[in-house]
Amino acid sequence: MAILVTGGAGFIGSNFIHEWFAGGGEPVVNLDKLTYAGNPRNLAGLPASAPHTFVHGDIADRELVSALLRQHAIRAVIHFAAESHVDRSIHGPEDFIQTNIVGTFRLLECVRAHWEGLDAAARSAFRFLHVSTDEIYGSLGPADAPFSETTRHQPNSPYSASKAASDHLVRAYHHTYGLPVLTTNCSNNHGPFQFPEKLMPLVIHNALAGKPLPIYGDGRQVRDWLYVGDHCSAVRRVLESGRPGEVYNIGGGSERPNLEVVHALCAVLDRERPRTDGIGYASQIAFVKDRPGHDRRYAIDARKIERELGWRPAETFESGIERTVRWYLHNEAWVREVTSGEYRAWVATHYAP
Ligand code: NAD
Ligand code: TYD
Repeated sequence: MAILVTGGAGFIGSNFIHEWFAGGGEPVVNLDKLTYAGNPRNLAGLPASAPHTFVHGDIADRELVSALLRQHAIRAVIHFAAESHVDRSIHGPEDFIQTNIVGTFRLLECVRAHWEGLDAAARSAFRFLHVSTDEIYGSLGPADAPFSETTRHQPNSPYSASKAASDHLVRAYHHTYGLPVLTTNCSNNHGPFQFPEKLMPLVIHNALAGKPLPIYGDGRQVRDWLYVGDHCSAVRRVLESGRPGEVYNIGGGSERPNLEVVHALCAVLDRERPRTDGIGYASQIAFVKDRPGHDRRYAIDARKIERELGWRPAETFESGIERTVRWYLHNEAWVREVTSGEYRAWVATHYAP
């Protein structure tokens, strides 16, 4: 028996696999297409004995997915694979529709066929865990209550619309076919192995490179931030104890305006790696044109997962960003590689079809 992790070479998926084995988890089959965001070297630090099988492929490939489910006697699927960057979805939405909607649909179809062929005990123990985002709920006003699991879906970007569509498909497969699904909607993650196009790794990278730190619009957009290790522990808890058909919101209880986040990162960098001229990194902040349709505020009500499953984040905002900044300071070669194209060349050689 094994679990199938999709998108396990990406940011959250690779952290999940590291933590899964650190917690003594069973074998993992990791299916990843290795888009620009997927990097097999994120898994290079796994112990040699870890039962990890990497498969280079697409979740939309029915034959491949069906074969993996059968050959590895998959008992649970943790579905991370997605196109995940809002700005990219604004410039080119098509890949988001293909992977997040069509890909999730094909994956669900294969999983349903596999699940229907299991015996009664295996069918009831089986789980399909869909990893989603708080962005499907849309944007909050300053005085609005945080998103709960019953908040209406009102996605505003092609990315969040495609994720909302996938959430609906997952829900429908439970109601229509009885597939034992679980859905998690999590806030903004940060931590090791995040591609430096998202706010935190981009700011750290640009700060160290002496480049401007771009703040969209007025920088007062609010996000809730969670250290990725806490997201992984929540996913694991939901997998173990979540009730099939249920949705669980996951959040850090750390709402911050973007400008405050960037200042906090600069403060850690000033302490850990001060600029040689003695000037603070915040001097590199540059206000730039706003993102079209930019959501103003996200906030998560995570009381359900705490009440029902006893999960809470271990990190505070401050302790989490310290860990994140330190990781990037100690892994500058990783950042250089993923930003230089050297990594793409390596993927092309090692994973040639
Ligand atoms: P990421 O972009 O870093 O990684 C995505 C991974 O999926 C990559 O390894 C990529 O190669 C792979 N992939 C893409 N298309 C694929 C396909 N068709 N078939 C197989 N693999 C494919 O994303 P992430 O930040 O790790 O996010 C993982 C999941 O968590 C996503 O579903 C995202 O919507 C969700 N999520 C992310 C955040 C966040 O802050 N990053 C917050 C909440 C939820
Ligand atoms: P991002 O990390 O792209 O995550 P998401 O859009 O999924 O929340 O962005 C986080 C916030 O930071 C979002 O409000 C957009 C803003 N942002 C900037 O101000 N500058 C940047 O260079 C980036 C990448 C994001």
